[in-house]
Amino acid sequence: MTLNDNEKRDIIKYIEAGKPLPDKYRFLLFGDKREVELVWNGKTNEVCNIVLPFQVIEQVDEPRQTQADKDDLAGSLFDFRGRQKSGWTNKLIWGDNKLILSSLKNGPLRDEIERNGGIKLIYIDPPFDVGADFSIDIEIGDETLHKEPGILEEIAYRDTWGKGSDSFISMIYERLMLMRDLLVKDGSIFVHCDWRLSSHIRVVLDEIFGKENFVNEIIWCYKDVGGGRNNNFYKRKHDTIFWYSKSQQFQTYKIGRGMLSESTLSRFDSLFDDEGNITYRRFKEKRPNEFETRKKQGRVPDNLDDIFLSKTNGRQLEDYWTDINPLRIRADKDNPDEEHFYPTQKPEELLVRIIETITKENDTVADFFCGSGTTLAVAEKLGRKWIGSDLGKFAIHTARKRMIQVQRQIKEEGRDFRAFEVLNLGKYERQHYIGINENLREEEKQRQIEEREKNFTELILHAYKAQIVEGFPAFHGKKAGRLVTVGPINLPVTRLFVEEIILECRKKNVTRVDILAFEFEMGLFPNILDEAKNKGIDISPKYIPREVFDRRAIEKNQVVFHDVSYIEIKPLVKANSIAVELTDFSVYYTQETIDSVAEGLKNGKNKITVDNGQIVKVSKDKNGIIEREILTKKWTDWIDYWSVDFNFESKREIIRVPNEETGEIEERWTGDYIFENEWQSFRTKKDRSLELISTFHECSPGRYKIAVKVVDIFGNDTMRIAEVTVGGKK
Ligand SMILES: C[S@@+](CC[C@H](N)C(=O)[O-])C[C@H]1O[C@@H](n2cnc3c(N)ncnc32)[C@H](O)[C@@H]1O
Repeated sequence: MTLNDNEKRDIIKYIEAGKPLPDKYRFLLFGDKREVELVWNGKTNEVCNIVLPFQVIEQVDEPRQTQADKDDLAGSLFDFRGRQKSGWTNKLIWGDNKLILSSLKNGPLRDEIERNGGIKLIYIDPPFDVGADFSIDIEIGDETLHKEPGILEEIAYRDTWGKGSDSFISMIYERLMLMRDLLVKDGSIFVHCDWRLSSHIRVVLDEIFGKENFVNEIIWCYKDVGGGRNNNFYKRKHDTIFWYSKSQQFQTYKIGRGMLSESTLSRFDSLFDDEGNITYRRFKEKRPNEFETRKKQGRVPDNLDDIFLSKTNGRQLEDYWTDINPLRIRADKDNPDEEHFYPTQKPEELLVRIIETITKENDTVADFFCGSGTTLAVAEKLGRKWIGSDLGKFAIHTARKRMIQVQRQIKEEGRDFRAFEVLNLGKYERQHYIGINENLREEEKQRQIEEREKNFTELILHAYKAQIVEGFPAFHGKKAGRLVTVGPINLPVTRLFVEEIILECRKKNVTRVDILAFEFEMGLFPNILDEAKNKGIDISPKYIPREVFDRRAIEKNQVVFHDVSYIEIKPLVKANSIAVELTDFSVYYTQETIDSVAEGLKNGKNKITVDNGQIVKVSKDKNGIIEREILTKKWTDWIDYWSVDFNFESKREIIRVPNEETGEIEERWTGDYIFENEWQSFRTKKDRSLELISTFHECSPGRYKIAVKVVDIFGNDTMRIAEVTVGGKK
């Protein structure tokens, strides 16, 4: 430290007076001599190191073989149903990528990733459009409902954008550090951003990856759509994609090529042969002077039969790409098959170029802000392994449907594909969502968390019209002879959470409990409820509606706690095969009541809302007369997707966790089973139809548990299990 005595005295004076130090001391007090650095309030080099176990919710693997091929399967990678039984399984992970990245980096999955060659390429397209990514447009018939973000997504957004670009940069900084650590030595990252934050991101990337590892700043220019209005500035029609390598050792496999320019074509017009090529030999023959100049510059290969110019192979591309249109143009014209799944979806061609540049077949590609899964779809089509994650339930559902379509397409082309798993993290760190200031001292942080939790619980109980009870650690209130538990504000209710409630019920002889929560972990129901029932405990899970935060709604009695969705199925048995018919499905959501929509509507306008389990179009005519039209006419209108596992309980869910005593990683059965997605029907943007009876599935005589999973149009899933006997005695 180079402080003189005056400065030392000065610092002590400030500290004793409890005043902040002047800026100049930042550069005198710390050893780090970075000349240019982006700083923001709360910047720290500490990264999250939490390890949470990944839970497999579902395995998706389009059966590969027909009956005729089954004889060939002995000793292969596939089981008798043509499903992958060993080797790498791709991963689609639901949750906050900070916890996902830190669990990948520090947890047992890292070994598996490394045994498979490690992560070679990370592409990310973080949400640089403040607040836009979590709300979605849902199609019902010809109408579109704009769905607001879920509460967890909203809280995550507040963390990302709460303090504008400061919070975005600190969010991305920590994640980029984790990503760098996960990349293999010769790996690369491509970070997609736009004009809003590209300047900040470049500085942060320089700091994390090193200036010397900057490879390209790719400018992706896209065409304008429609005329648009005239501004007093130039239209912003490009995104920036930063390419950094982890070290200087990276290798490229294919640098994109474009068409030869008009001027090159006309300059060499007479030299091209019938195939559209010019060899160096011909170039030498026809343009000896130019050839000699080039030779002196060392730009001529030894073999003069090499191609000098080719119309088909074109020329190596620059770092500005003008030949890839954004999806809203492409979907209609260039590539009618590329569906538009998601508001911020990027074109597959863009990802093809990036993935082919830096990876080869079987390398692993990751996208930790995967949205609709563009990176994953392209990786699969190009035979790469992949890992994707997203915080939005709807994004995960969209990516799952998309990847099933990709598996089907590859199967049709007679090529091979890999199975994928949908996973989530069992438990989330609470502070992360509650939004406590991380810079507070530990006791103060703890005190604030407790206070916020208490206030939150009281608020929910008040809205539920339950009385507060004291003295039970697991129960918070009581209502109509039932005890009430409020799930955490910041995370979905997990199986572990419900198991603790069951344990507490048994200790205290409690038989009836309501669990109120914003979200329940995927795949939780109905197993856990049946488990409780077998122990004589009646658990009723209910969704906490958004209106609990609106005092007026509470006062007006508008807050309804909905039951979780409900599925009816009918198993169909024919000789040695089973099928399932979906016979009913109900949900009880409310987004905004009809009355409050009507109140806010201007004359001549309409809005679509969800009220009490119905999607309703509320219109106000020129004279202010309100009309309501129910859009969900049939129960099937609520269903976006359903799938069947014909033998649930055939695949145990195993997690790899460190042994508390030895620290060794060991495999443990969680007590649950993995849903193996063996058949599915879903709506796509183009094909809105849905099959209601599955195909018949062959099985040997015996008793089976069939599981049916339904995902509604909001991306929420519910499961139902039925027991059925095939062949033999009933
Ligand atoms: C711009 S979109 C990505 C679109 C994607 N490239 C595609 O082609 O569909 C950004 C995504 O990041 C997700 N996201 C935002 N914050 C996240 C977080 N903390 N963890 C994981 N995903 C997050 C959002 O849900 C959103 O789907």
